Amino acid sequence: MHTSQLLAAAVAFAGLAIASPVQVQPVEERQTAQKLRIMPLGDSITEITCWRALVWDQLAEAKLADQVQYVGSQNSNPQNCKPATANWDQHHEGHSGWLAVDIANNYLTGWLQKTPADIVMFMLGTNDVFRGKSTADIIAAYTKMVNIMRASNPKTKIIVDLVIPLSAGSSSGITALNAAIPAWAKGLNSTESPIILADCNTGFKTSDLRDGVHPNASGDKIIASRVGPLLLNYVRQSLGKQ
Ligand SMILES: *[C@@H]1O[C@H](CO)[C@@H](O)[C@H](O)[C@H]1NC(C)=O
Ligand SMILES: *[C@@H]1O[C@H](CO)[C@@H](O)[C@H](O)[C@H]1NC(C)=O
Repeated sequence: MHTSQLLAAAVAFAGLAIASPVQVQPVEERQTAQKLRIMPLGDSITEITCWRALVWDQLAEAKLADQVQYVGSQNSNPQNCKPATANWDQHHEGHSGWLAVDIANNYLTGWLQKTPADIVMFMLGTNDVFRGKSTADIIAAYTKMVNIMRASNPKTKIIVDLVIPLSAGSSSGITALNAAIPAWAKGLNSTESPIILADCNTGFKTSDLRDGVHPNASGDKIIASRVGPLLLNYVRQSLGKQ
């Protein structure tokens, strides 16, 4: 095709997209439709930290990075993380200061409509604990989130993190939440939509925190070492490599 013909075709296509936006997928989604969609979901421990980047390095080392993408409404690298893989995918659904109960009640449905996911990995509850929410309220929010994920994609594979410890304030709420998560996860586990536990708490010391709440370089490595291998398993299963 001549260049001018190509241009005309492109213009015609753009016109079509504008005329019927409902039928035509956004360009970004269409181009990456073959890739497995992984949503890192959480609060500031997901947003302003580097473990997402370190997990991407694990995907790259396993030669899986070109077959996956991180998804979410956010696309940022606030900590200026510099993993080995320079072109790591910076999409995520980490929201500093946000509570699990609010995300469950008001946001997750819309986020998954915008960027559906095959795999969701989440750590949430720290801000709920800060604001005095009970373990029961947080666990109810977890249940609601899983139901939303499965309504969006019945085959969602889920990784739920045990929450990292705090040195700021009382950690009894975190301890109680972490104690409740395993039985909760088991109760909602299914073959079609498995839930696995990433223990980001055991062996995580308060000296792995930079400010009493957020992981420093050492804490990021711990989280990545607990979440990454589980994610790689899910990715290999999903791609039929296992
Ligand atoms: C869910 O089931 C899978 C497969 O049997 C298992 O590997 C996983 O540990 C279970 N998850 C929980 C939280 O028990
Ligand atoms: C993590 O932060 C703690 C407390 O500030 C510090 O003692 C430790 O050396 C830091 N480790 C790394 C790898 O940054």
